[in-house]
Amino acid sequence: MAVSYRELGLVNTRDMFAKAMGGKYAVPAYNFNNLEQLQAIITACVQTKSPVILQVSKGARDYANATMLRYMAMGAVAYAKELGYEIPIALHLDHGDTFETCKSCVDYGFSSVMIDGSHHSFEDNIALTKQVVEYAHRFDVTVEGELGVLAGIEDDVQSEHSHYTNPDQVVEFVEKTGVDSLAISIGTSHGAYKFKVKPGESVPPLRFDILEECEQRIPGFPIVLHGASSVLPEYVEMINMYGGKMDNAVGIPEEQLRKAAASAVCKINIDSDGRLAFTAKIREFMAQNPSKFDPREYLKPARAELVKMYAAKNENVLGSAGRA
Ligand code: G3H
Ligand code: 13P
Ligand code: ZN
Repeated sequence: MAVSYRELGLVNTRDMFAKAMGGKYAVPAYNFNNLEQLQAIITACVQTKSPVILQVSKGARDYANATMLRYMAMGAVAYAKELGYEIPIALHLDHGDTFETCKSCVDYGFSSVMIDGSHHSFEDNIALTKQVVEYAHRFDVTVEGELGVLAGIEDDVQSEHSHYTNPDQVVEFVEKTGVDSLAISIGTSHGAYKFKVKPGESVPPLRFDILEECEQRIPGFPIVLHGASSVLPEYVEMINMYGGKMDNAVGIPEEQLRKAAASAVCKINIDSDGRLAFTAKIREFMAQNPSKFDPREYLKPARAELVKMYAAKNENVLGSAGRA
């Protein structure tokens, strides 16, 4: 049965982005797959009074179940209220691959969808994105498109090398598709192994020149940054200390994200950092408590660590704290 996101208490991203653009901060888009991650995102964003985009990939939707997700989102809105402060909450499809996936999410109560046509030709990307926009806008659901390809894994699409966004294409893409926001490729990448650097070497800086060129061509238009986890060394170290093996995991320095958040970048996507913090704390608990087997006992500290990490991102990196 179709449901509108408004009935679930959600909002689309339009106002969030307008405020973020004026306020020079970025709205966090945190991916989740399960109850504990969702609880942590909501708790941290209520605590820091931050707007939030709850982000669900196609894989996460398959994992959690589309119907369960609808009620989880509704529960998240009620939970935020219960925690004592109302924040704007959007439910967003991350890396939608087809019109059908996007349509299904609109019909199931998502308030925002991404159609990722970045691996298609420019013309096909425009045609597919436009088709999604036409459907989604009938229900006032906002749409994110993508131009340029990030290195790393984009859900089902794996890309060895990145192709930076060509600023010459952004005006035509935005005008012809009618998208509400645009994800661009300026050197970030998905996952925990973003750059091949030797220990002690610094990672290559993001291409802020490309970002600036895009901003100049589409002034005031919301830009999105994917692949923005910092791959926090404390969690990688903890994982390695307690039996994991994550050699050469490296992410985007926080300083560069702060700079991006103060620009036309209105949405910053973070998934891997949540996975790392959660896994690190579970590994630590398992190693220190080999006889324990109640999942609540190891999920509780993992969830608490997530709250701490998301709150710190809102306060110190994205600048979204206090903006709800
Ligand atoms: O960009 C991809 C997100 O990190 C989602 O990853 O497809 O493994 O859920 P996933
Ligand atoms: P990370 O892998 O850097 O967290 O990126 C997540 C992302 O872009 C989701 O769309
Ligand atoms: Zn992404």
